[in-house]
Amino acid sequence: MRRRRRLPIEELAPYLLPDVPRGAVAPAIDWSVLFGNDRPIEVEVGFGKGLFLLTSGSSRPEVNFFGVEIIRKYQLHTATRLVERKLPNVRVACADAKLLLRDRVPPGSVHAVHVYFPDPWWKSRHHKRRLFTSEFVAIVEKVLQVGGRFHIVTDVEEYFTVMLAIMKDMPAFAEMLAPPPTEPQHDFDYLTNFERKFRKEGRPIYRAVYIRR
Ligand SMILES: C[S@@+](CC[C@H](N)C(=O)[O-])C[C@H]1O[C@@H](n2cnc3c(N)ncnc32)[C@H](O)[C@@H]1O
Repeated sequence: MRRRRRLPIEELAPYLLPDVPRGAVAPAIDWSVLFGNDRPIEVEVGFGKGLFLLTSGSSRPEVNFFGVEIIRKYQLHTATRLVERKLPNVRVACADAKLLLRDRVPPGSVHAVHVYFPDPWWKSRHHKRRLFTSEFVAIVEKVLQVGGRFHIVTDVEEYFTVMLAIMKDMPAFAEMLAPPPTEPQHDFDYLTNFERKFRKEGRPIYRAVYIRR
């Protein structure tokens, strides 16, 4: 398959959260400066190749979408797609989402957090590397506004059980009915790139949605 060209960084810059120079204190993100308006903010943690940000950004122009991805290559890949589609309401950051949400996102400023197919780290001795911990959920609780939504999807039953147990211990969240998945009409009509892969393989997918009380 032909590798798609990544655009030069100067062209991507309007879609990127600027990096903080080494040694400098990272300032809190001012959403209205970053997006140039005061529309609601939804955050996706670990967006990979960015399908969710691209489809949601174009189908819901009334919302600002902010993606945080730890791998630079994926940030730049998604930013290239954003430039191509001229999507004005999506920005992407390259950072450890736990740190960025903890240190730079103003409390109560986010309308929804999306975590789709977080890395399972299959081996038990690697479970400590998992994103989804009670510490992470406490950070999500801090950034979400009251009434905000927390969307979780995974293909790993054991990890899902762990997530549900963590959520049960968080009184600030109430479980809601997760909407059933729709039947995809074409190859880009999936929630995320991983959802497309796993649904095509016929694997079960586990979904949950919580509301911040
Ligand atoms: C299994 S992939 C899923 C990608 C995408 N959500 C999807 O469903 O197609 C998990 C992604 O989370 C990213 N990731 C893992 N830990 C992260 C962290 N602490 N902060 C931000 N991104 C992270 C990984 O780099 C990877 O792109």
